[in-house]
This record gives sequence, C-alpha cells and structure tokens, in this order.
Amino acid sequence: MSAAVGEHAARRRRRGAVGLVAVLLGVLLAVGTGTLSASAHAELLGTTPEEGAMLEEAPSHAELRFNEPVQLIDGAIRLFPGDGSTPLVLEARTVDSTVTINLPDDLADGSYALSYRIVSADGHPIGGAIAFQIGAGTPTSAAPDLAELDGTPAATETAVSFLTVLQYLGLLVFAGLLFFDRIVLRTRGGADRGVRRLLVWAFGAALGASVVLVPLSALRIVGGHLWELLTPGVWSPGFLWPPVIAVVLVAAAGTAALSAALGSTSVRGRVAGVVCAGIAVCAPVLVGHTRTVEPGWLMIAADVGHLLAGAFWAGGVLGLLRFLAAARPGTAAKRGTPASPPRTDPDTAARVVVRFSRFALASVILLAVSGTIMAVLIVGTWDAVLGTGYGRTLLLKLGIVAAVVALAAWNRTRLLPRITARPTAALQWASLGRILSYEAALLVAVIAITGFLTNSSPAHDHHDSVATAPSATQTPVHAESQGLTVDGTISPTTTGQNTLIFRLEYDDAPVATGEVSVDARLPDQDLGPFPATVQLDADTGDYKATVTLPVSGSWQLQVSARIDTYTQPIAIVPITIG
Ligand code: HEM
Repeated sequence: MSAAVGEHAARRRRRGAVGLVAVLLGVLLAVGTGTLSASAHAELLGTTPEEGAMLEEAPSHAELRFNEPVQLIDGAIRLFPGDGSTPLVLEARTVDSTVTINLPDDLADGSYALSYRIVSADGHPIGGAIAFQIGAGTPTSAAPDLAELDGTPAATETAVSFLTVLQYLGLLVFAGLLFFDRIVLRTRGGADRGVRRLLVWAFGAALGASVVLVPLSALRIVGGHLWELLTPGVWSPGFLWPPVIAVVLVAAAGTAALSAALGSTSVRGRVAGVVCAGIAVCAPVLVGHTRTVEPGWLMIAADVGHLLAGAFWAGGVLGLLRFLAAARPGTAAKRGTPASPPRTDPDTAARVVVRFSRFALASVILLAVSGTIMAVLIVGTWDAVLGTGYGRTLLLKLGIVAAVVALAAWNRTRLLPRITARPTAALQWASLGRILSYEAALLVAVIAITGFLTNSSPAHDHHDSVATAPSATQTPVHAESQGLTVDGTISPTTTGQNTLIFRLEYDDAPVATGEVSVDARLPDQDLGPFPATVQLDADTGDYKATVTLPVSGSWQLQVSARIDTYTQPIAIVPITIG
C-alpha cells in the first residue's frame, strides 16, 4: 500500500516537473520570439546629408533612416576626414528607425566619409558610408587612415557559419534519433546503449555550438577578429539576447528530452521526451533572418515545420542505418561469409522500414512546402535567386535535396516492395543500407550548406541619390562581364566627386535602357556602396553617372543594367584613386 502511494507521489512529482519545464519553455519561446520584430530586412531608406551632398555650412548632426528599428554598436559610427587626419568616433541615438548622429561643431571645409555599422532586426550587422563635402573648395586628394574600417574578417564570418552547421547537425541528429526511437521503433524502455551514446554526443555538439555562438555572433557584429573572442570587452557591444535564449532553450529542453530518453519507461515520459526534443530543435527559430520577414506568423510556422521535418528525415535516416546495422536482417546469406542468423526477424525489420518510409514521405512533403514558403518570403523574386550569393547557395541546396529525394524515391518505389515481398533476401537489405548511407552523406551536405545560407544576406544593395561633379583629366575605363560591356571615361580620378561617361553593350548590341545603376565600393576597407544616379543621353546613347569617392584606394564601380525581366548583368569597373 505504502509502495503504491510512494509510486503515485513520484509520478505526480514527475508530471509536475514536466509541466514546469513545458511552461518555462513556452515562456522562453514567447520572450524569444518577441525580442525580434518580424519585419523586412533592414534597409537604409535615406540619409541627411544626402550621399554626395555639397554643403555650404557644416551640419550639426546627420541622420540615417531605416525601414525598421535598428540597434547601435558602441564606437561603430565614425567620420573620416578627407585630409587624412584621424577618424572621429561619434555619439548617436536611435528613435524608432532613425539614427541621429551628433557631428562635431568645428568641422572644417573639405570632404568627409561618414561610416556606420548597426545591427538589423535579424541580428546581422549592416554597414555603409555616406560621403559629403563642406564648402565649395576642390575635393582634397589626401588619403585618410582607413585601417580601422575593416568589415567583419572572413575568418570570423566562416567560424559563425561552421558553428551554425554544428548546431544544426547536433540538434537535427539529436531530435531525429529520438523521434525515430520513440515513433518508428516504438522502443518501450530507455534507448539502447549505442543510441544513448549518439544522443549524448549530438546534444553536446548542439549545446556547445549554441554557447560559443553567443560571443561569436557578437564578435561578428562588431567586426572583430577570432582571437578577440577571449576579450569580452571587444565583443560585448555586439551582444544580443536571442542567441542566449536559444542556448537556454537547447539546454533545458535537450536535458529534459535526454533524461526521458535515458530513463523513462512510462508512456507519458516517452511523449515528454519527444515533445522536449521537438522544442529543442526549434531553437534556431529565435535567431537569423528567417524571422525578419513578413508575415511573421507564416515565417515562424514554416521554420518550425521545416526544423521538425528536417530532424525527422535526417535523424531518422541515421537511426534506420543504426537499426539495420544492429538488426542485421540480411547477414544470413552474405556472399563469401559464413551464414549468421539475423538478430531481428526480417519481417519485423521490414515493418520498421515501411513505417519509417511513411513518416519520411510526410517529412519530405513538409520540408518542401515549408522550405518553399521560406524561400519565397526571404528571396522574393527570381531576379534575387539568380542575382545574389544567397539565391545561388539556395539553388545549390535544392540541387542536393533533389538528389536525396531521388535516392529516397528509389528506396520507396523499387526496393521497399521487393523487401516486403521477400524480407529474407539479403541482397536487397545490402542495397538499402548502401543507398541510405548515400542519403545520410547528402543530408549532411544539405545541412552544411544551410549553415552558410542562414548566415548570408539575401538583400540587394539598391540606393539612389544625385550628385554633380567637376570634370578634368579623363581616364579610359573598360569592363566586360555576364555579356555586358562598359566602355567610357572617368574624370578627374581623384578623391571627391567623379563623373563616369560610358556606353553599354549587351551581347554586342547597344543598350539604351533607363534601368541602369552604378555604385562604388572600396572592398579592401569595406567602404560603400556609394550610389550614383545615372542619366541617359537619348541623343548620343551615352550614360553619365556622378559618384563621390571620398578616399584613395582600389575602388570598384558596379554597373548593372536591366535588359529584360530575367536578365540584369553586372560588370565591375576597377578604378584606382590616389
Ligand atoms: C525541400 C527543399 C528545401 C527547401 C526549399 C529549403 C529551403 C530553406 C530555406 C529558404 C531556409 C531558410 C534559410 C535562411 O534562414 O536564410 C531553410 C532553412 C533550413 N533548412 Fe531547408 N530547405 C529544404 C530542404 C531541407 C532539408 C532536406 C533539410 C535537412 C534535412 C533542411 C534543413 C534546414 C535547416 C536546419 C534550416 C535552418 C532553419 C533555421 O535556422 O531556423 N532543409 N531551408
């Protein structure tokens, strides 16, 4: 009697604990999703002074207007005088989506570049610069010291992507293995030793990667070098809460799922394990630009569905491989080796494969639907699919997904009927194992590409502003790329305002479209883009673009022309100033 009462009390305590964890996780998800506004990718709508402005008097402040609220980074707004003197770090404040920057009172006549770096709602840093001139003097040609204006170092960007890949792999394998064990295999007691070890490793990888991503993401925001990870003073200005909430979610839900997987034998315990694993795998919803797109509810729903289905498929393939290796349904007749009896009855093994195949089909459909919804909401146009690095990475991912789907379809339509018809035939089990291992390898590649995809920007850089320019010595320019040829001259090829006069040809035919854009960047210093308005002289067919190049260096003028709905080639004109 007393044993029954004790067991009842223990069960109530367990139920209470599961309820508490569920409430805590619900609150965390709500807080986490609330900290990110669901809106479009942050874009600069306008500035005061305007890009390329010629001002009679020094302004008291400057303004950057974005399409959504942004966050400031300490010390990341700087004014570079064109005379080469030390850049000034400026104070700024944000009200809604406008950044107001206090300019020094005693700004002398001359050219200036105002560089900024802020954090968009998706947690990614956005940088740029505006150039302006005070007074009517000729622009100076001295080069300021831009050494400190580096963008995020490539090693830091790559480390963030690698850690994201590790986080995805850990989470998907952890949750997927657990789903497979509980939903497909329907294991009654705790998971077997091999599965437990895999679960612990996958959970460790997911948690470790999530923890390191907190300071690493902050380091990327401030543009720091990898070794500065050990100096919190460097990265703390870029600190954001959503990655921390993701860590807490992975730690709490993952630990609950793991303890249920290791110990619980009750139905409720098994269900709680599956639910907690499902919550843990959704932690990435809290970070990244999947959340910065309207409508927010659709994006979040698609992302949750995508992660759950991805976990089921990827983790499930691994689980099935492990199951087949342990069950050995086809080893009895392996060629050249003495027959050894299968450990699991081949009929039972065939039933497991059929069951997994049904769930996997549902997962693939859910992945395709949710992935397509996210792709349409994030990328928007065909143009952006073909014209941005993000779009091309997405196409690479889809190419590999298509190959995995083809393998899975072969398994389902060709192999599975043969296995269910003759479960004792060893050759078919061997083929299934081989194709499943190809599937697993390709799915790892898909997840790896996704880690880089979610850390790249889907945005185009489109700006417009007007500037006028003096003219002096002319330097010939020529560039050819993607079928587009640019031929012309630029003058005066010094710092300050420059005028580019050029003609365009596409596939050797003259181009006279009104949709031509030019912007200037200094990639070595991560400066720009500085946009120009382009005018077409309909009589001569010449284009004229005026652009301000505020400092010396190896500039790139990016010329792009809209040829038709699907064609917008880009050619880069290199210009050396100073
Ligand atoms: C069926 C075709 C698929 C499409 C169209 C697709 C598309 C996408 C898109 C557009 C994103 C958002 C990326 C971003 O944040 O910028 C995404 C995220 C993701 N995809 Fe896929 N995907 C597909 C299949 C898969 C597969 C097979 C897996 C792995 C098994 C997978 C795993 C993921 C993961 C882990 C994320 C990250 C979600 C997050 O960070 O919130 N996807 N996918």
